Amino acid sequence: MTRSGHAPDRPSRRAVLLTAGGLSAAGGGFGAGFGVAHAASGAGDPDPAAVLRVPTPGEDLMTEHGLLIRVLLIYRDLMAGQAAGQPVQAGHAHDAALIIHDYIEAFHEELEEAYVFPRLIQAGQLRPTVSTLLLQHARGRELTQLILAESGGTGSLPAAAADQVTSAMAAFVRMYEPHEAREDTVVYPAYRALLTPAEIADLSARFADLQTEQFGGGGFTTMLGRVAAIEQALGIYDLAQFTPPNITPPLT
Ligand SMILES: [Fe+2]
Ligand SMILES: [Fe+2]
Repeated sequence: MTRSGHAPDRPSRRAVLLTAGGLSAAGGGFGAGFGVAHAASGAGDPDPAAVLRVPTPGEDLMTEHGLLIRVLLIYRDLMAGQAAGQPVQAGHAHDAALIIHDYIEAFHEELEEAYVFPRLIQAGQLRPTVSTLLLQHARGRELTQLILAESGGTGSLPAAAADQVTSAMAAFVRMYEPHEAREDTVVYPAYRALLTPAEIADLSARFADLQTEQFGGGGFTTMLGRVAAIEQALGIYDLAQFTPPNITPPLT
């Protein structure tokens, strides 16, 4: 068991998701990353006003990628600290990897694999890209399991464990930056182009329901809070610290 009592193996929801859509459905939009009440679903045209209040599938997916990027930044900070000779705190490493495990792997990627990728394959689009993305999901899960296994204690990690954890984080960051950038710029737009407005409304609602079912209300907000807590502990929460100094010469 992990620090928070989670079993290391991911609680796959693929069977549920595939039952909900997958290849047999028209495709899937990712709904309500913010827990927004969803629009009309089922038969008939969606209410346009309600649709406007719900994130489109692409918006929702990219918001989830924003959460992923913030964990990658946490990984980068831990890697930089270790390179500078600072100890790696087991709790920070473990908690960050759990967010990847709990939300990105057990929800976001499950939805990609059950809805987005099958729809593209069904349409004969981006087959090599989808194949690579699937392999990267699998490799990412292996890296996350390694990080969780090596960071299960408390206090500072022993040197050997710290090396393993930060090496796995480096491989994870190196893979996921291009991975999510390709999804944002190529995969999601191609997927969006296959969906009708009615499908977007219906499937956004379905995904909102799945998220609520898996995490309860405010699932994304809860994950965001977990990310912010680690950022604050590491001293990287304050956005202003990343603004470079003004390089414009002062007026004379
Ligand atoms: Fe992905
Ligand atoms: Fe993704």
